[in-house]
Amino acid sequence: MNSYFCELGRRVYERWEKENFSLEAFPGIATRALKEKPPSKHVELKALMRDFLLEDEQPFQTTYGFGQPELIVYDSPKFYIQLLFWLDGTTDIHQHGFSGAFHVMEGSSIHSEFEFRNPRPVTAHFRLGELSLKKAELLERGVSVPILSGGGCIHSLFHLETPSVTVVVRTHSDPGTGPQFTYLPPHVALDPVKEDALTLRRKQLLDAIERTGDPGFTALVTTMVGKLDFERGFFILQNCMGHLRATGSWHRVWRTFSKKHGKAAEKITPTLTEIIRRDGLVAMRASIEEVEHRFFLALLLTVPDRSRILAMIGERYPGKPLTTISRWAGEMAITTEGGTWILDARFPEEPHVAEEEQIPLFLGALDHLLKGGKPPAWLAKFPGVLKALKDALTESSWRVLIR
Ligand SMILES: [Fe+2]
Repeated sequence: MNSYFCELGRRVYERWEKENFSLEAFPGIATRALKEKPPSKHVELKALMRDFLLEDEQPFQTTYGFGQPELIVYDSPKFYIQLLFWLDGTTDIHQHGFSGAFHVMEGSSIHSEFEFRNPRPVTAHFRLGELSLKKAELLERGVSVPILSGGGCIHSLFHLETPSVTVVVRTHSDPGTGPQFTYLPPHVALDPVKEDALTLRRKQLLDAIERTGDPGFTALVTTMVGKLDFERGFFILQNCMGHLRATGSWHRVWRTFSKKHGKAAEKITPTLTEIIRRDGLVAMRASIEEVEHRFFLALLLTVPDRSRILAMIGERYPGKPLTTISRWAGEMAITTEGGTWILDARFPEEPHVAEEEQIPLFLGALDHLLKGGKPPAWLAKFPGVLKALKDALTESSWRVLIR
């Protein structure tokens, strides 16, 4: 058992007891205790890990998949303290069914807070509404932040360093504040705990059919979507969208869903498109190790506003933000067997450009489109390519920055 966390746990317990274990008081007590004697200054992480591996006398452990991994370092019937390691982790946008506080013990993270306006329940586990970003900030090592349960605190974290380590002082659960919704921007909230086993198995069966190359796949999915309720239809669309788009049969399925559900279906297209974009960026998080690049990836993932992105880059890095972005683009541009890419923007196949000329043209076009104005003379000689590159960048996560 780690003596620092035992002492922290006891201190929080005593203070909370004096407040009669008031749920309202807990986030404040937990945040204050973390700030008074921060784990980032008082815990020797290597020694803690060694102790955890070699000493059997440890608090109760869970088998949950949250964290990479999660270690529980203090537990009591009223609350517990967990240490969460993050190797390439990005949390979904979520709310909590518990409360307390978290502390950045190692690394740093981009923390984004959201609000979900006009929620309309489709079922008890699925809502439509309008998710928008309230605030995005960089949390440096040593910072402590309160966690409130319920829909008033919707957030996500994007961890910049590997590993990042977070300490969470939290209640087990706060009755009445569930479900612990996960948000799919810009319009969907769903309960991730509610496992619809029939839908899960249907998705898995569809995956199997897809892999066999069955020519009746699209017709089957179209019939299902025409028959299923809104929530289950959404999950089938989400599951099959990648394959249906790749085979050019998405519109047929989508028309069926849209005809069946009318106006409510309008909220689904932007949500599904955003799922694809976010999944692509989150997957890159695992292969991009440079902290500056991860920082930029996190901004593209969460901040839907050019001026706010530029301001956050300007606060952290010297020089003009647009010049910094052009430099990062140059560092991240790659040519693979699957084409030339700058993040999720792919160099178009038409008009044809020799492979060795693609990266300089791509970077030149991006730099011009970031800054606006007239293209430089050397780039203006390729109007067809420039137009195609603008289309490619506008369809990617770069669109928020393009003039
Ligand atoms: Fe959280």
